[in-house]
Amino acid sequence: MKFDFTYYNPTKIIFGVDSLNHLEEELNRFGSNVLLAYGGGSIKRIGLYDKVVEILKQSHKNIIELAGIMPNPTYNKVLEGANLVRNHRIDLILAVGGGSVIDCAKAISACAYSPEKDPWNAYWIDYKPVSHQVVPIGTILTMVGTGSEMNGGSVITNEEEKLKKGRVFSANLYPSFSILNPEWTYSVPKYQMVSGIFDIMSHLMEQYFSGTDDNVSDYLIEGLLKNLIVNTKKALQNPQDYEARSNIMWNATLALNTLVGCGKEQDWEVHSIEHQLGAYTNCAHGMGLAAISIPYYKMIYPYGLDKFVRFAREVWNIDGEGKAKESIALEGIAALQEFIVSSGMTTTLRELGTTEEMLPLIAESTDLGGYYKSLTHADILKILKECY
Ligand code: NZQ
Ligand code: ZN
Repeated sequence: MKFDFTYYNPTKIIFGVDSLNHLEEELNRFGSNVLLAYGGGSIKRIGLYDKVVEILKQSHKNIIELAGIMPNPTYNKVLEGANLVRNHRIDLILAVGGGSVIDCAKAISACAYSPEKDPWNAYWIDYKPVSHQVVPIGTILTMVGTGSEMNGGSVITNEEEKLKKGRVFSANLYPSFSILNPEWTYSVPKYQMVSGIFDIMSHLMEQYFSGTDDNVSDYLIEGLLKNLIVNTKKALQNPQDYEARSNIMWNATLALNTLVGCGKEQDWEVHSIEHQLGAYTNCAHGMGLAAISIPYYKMIYPYGLDKFVRFAREVWNIDGEGKAKESIALEGIAALQEFIVSSGMTTTLRELGTTEEMLPLIAESTDLGGYYKSLTHADILKILKECY
């Protein structure tokens, strides 16, 4: 196995109940024009907007607002933000919200001064690197799941082309700083909370189900998965359990800040399928992943049997004594399914607004990949039909 990697992550994380107190000193590192980017209004309802604006004013910043960044942010919203950046000579994009707001901020930064005639094709289809001037980003995270607060991921939906595409930018587009206070996540509705939790779980599994080696990453991922399972139960019982919400928040960051993927090949096919599901239905990302994962893993487990046995034993404590490998692997997948159902996550595409006519369109437009098994469009259609 090839164990080559460069690990570099420039994002400063400021974590805890008092973390917003550090915003002013972070703002002092940047110029005076700030684009305050946020979503549909949750930050106003929880009182965070007023606090942030007050700190920006104290820091003598000119505030330009980009409101209404939608879940599954669109390329048109990115272009709107890029215009604001150019017109107001923005020095810092302050993204306050969940993964959608942060992903959109990175895309705006990449597109604002792009020399490309068609940034969509350049960055989300051809995955060209961004080497021109970008605008620094700071984040205040309010919804846990994506890991966008400490990575270069930017998942954007092109509505005209019916494509939802993710790309991972280099370190110049990672947030410069991210402020994480678990208390700001208490108001996230249960549906969104568990969607984010399954997103974390999926990030960990997409990196785990690959290879035949015994990589340090496999041990890290098993630990993170166990921590996530325990704390999900606690957070579901008491959404204001600070310790549980803190564990989940930091777990999400670690799951996708590229650390656990070092030296490992990875899968990511569940995400590829979900992205096209999202392009057609605009569903909550983690709920789409939850519905797709069970039929996906049932299809691929025979090709990575030993890893699925390890998953069952190490993550779900399944006693394999005297059992065939196949039945241990299936017990592990059943335990995952039980977790999905008991946490209130989605198990069918129908619940997410999918129609039967959409299934072949989603299957045909999904990028092919997979690690243990290389998927075909027909395989994807079979998976979609199974969870429809
Ligand atoms: O828009 P507002 O009003 O803020 O409401 C949001 C939104 O409706 C709400 N919300 C956020 N914080 C809240 C809150 N409601 C109450 N209280 C709060 N404190 O939650 C809803 C969902 O927010 P969103 O940002 O869309 O969720 P999430 O963080 O799950 O982000 C999903 C997007 O990230 C992409 C997904 O594909 C999807 O487009 N991803 C990004 C990745 C990355 N950058 O690395 C990786 C992931 O795999 C994923 O693909
Ligand atoms: Zn995800």
